[in-house]
Amino acid sequence: MNYIGSKLKLCQGFLPITIKSVCGEDLSEKVFCDIFAGTGIVGRTFKTSVKKVISNDVEYYSYVLNKNYIENHREIKDKKERIEELNFLPLTNNGFIYKNYCLGGNGERQYFSDENGKRIDSIRMKIEEWKNTNQISDNMYYFLLCSLLECADKVANTASVYGAYLKKLKKSAQKELVLEPAEYELNDNEHQVYNIDANELIKKIDGDILYLDPPYNARQYGANYHLLNTIAEYKPFEPHGKTGLRKYIRSKYCSANSVKTEFENLIRNAQFKYIFLSYNNEGLMSVEDVKTIMSKYGRYGLVQTDYQRFKADSNRFNKADSTVEYLHILEKS
Ligand SMILES: C[S@@+](CC[C@H](N)C(=O)[O-])C[C@H]1O[C@@H](n2cnc3c(N)ncnc32)[C@H](O)[C@@H]1O
Repeated sequence: MNYIGSKLKLCQGFLPITIKSVCGEDLSEKVFCDIFAGTGIVGRTFKTSVKKVISNDVEYYSYVLNKNYIENHREIKDKKERIEELNFLPLTNNGFIYKNYCLGGNGERQYFSDENGKRIDSIRMKIEEWKNTNQISDNMYYFLLCSLLECADKVANTASVYGAYLKKLKKSAQKELVLEPAEYELNDNEHQVYNIDANELIKKIDGDILYLDPPYNARQYGANYHLLNTIAEYKPFEPHGKTGLRKYIRSKYCSANSVKTEFENLIRNAQFKYIFLSYNNEGLMSVEDVKTIMSKYGRYGLVQTDYQRFKADSNRFNKADSTVEYLHILEKS
């Protein structure tokens, strides 16, 4: 998923290398917490090398992704058969997505092609029916929902986030949605996934390595990914305005007024030996702000790397699009 602030690229080197250089190569006895998990890629990177991953995000779609990618760790029987059945369902034109987010349904919004909107509804309804009639386990439920979110996102008719739709159906949105399995890593250990505010969760957990990747600017994830929450929750509501927005959570990390207090409370309450914070040079808190706060709570260090800026249209890359990504490190005393 092309996600604002995704650490996919950093996970291919910089992040695991730096974390291991600080905490040691062998992490097999460590509890690792990814408390602003988003797509879950950071937790996924450490899932098979640590004792336990604790994953959390305040957004429900992220919870669904992580319930699959992080919490699912054993083989689930009949995955292939269920996916196949969902791919061959008859299409309904009586579902919430088609009615509210497709041209044929409401005559205006066009987040999906008519056919894909109907397909999303048919699949989503069937998954819920299977769950309500106890035909599938929770593990299977989140595996199927996660697969649907990933595949729906691929055919969304947006520039990349759901703040607006495109007038014309773009090429990728014209493709037929085909449900593909959202594969997760198998391993022997149990992991935990939460869906609450990080500042609440931090009071209830402890561990060894805490990775922090909060939003760093005013862009609220709940607004930018509202349609993923709508598909994931699938409960009717009155869509608002031209974009069909739903009520969404406003994170205190997205406001200059509250971010520093919120961040300091998080650090103060954290019962973890090592804390790593990803933040970039254009964030609401300056490097100095972060350093001042973290230094109060133990031994502080900073490493940095150049990073490609998030872009709506990934074909438009040039040098000016790169930004500095900081990794602040705290060994708590
Ligand atoms: C920069 S993104 C994380 C990206 C993630 N590391 C990845 O690579 O996909 C920030 C995440 O923080 C979540 N978030 C914002 N405020 C939060 C809060 N108060 N508690 C928990 N999660 C929050 C957002 O929903 C978003 O998914």
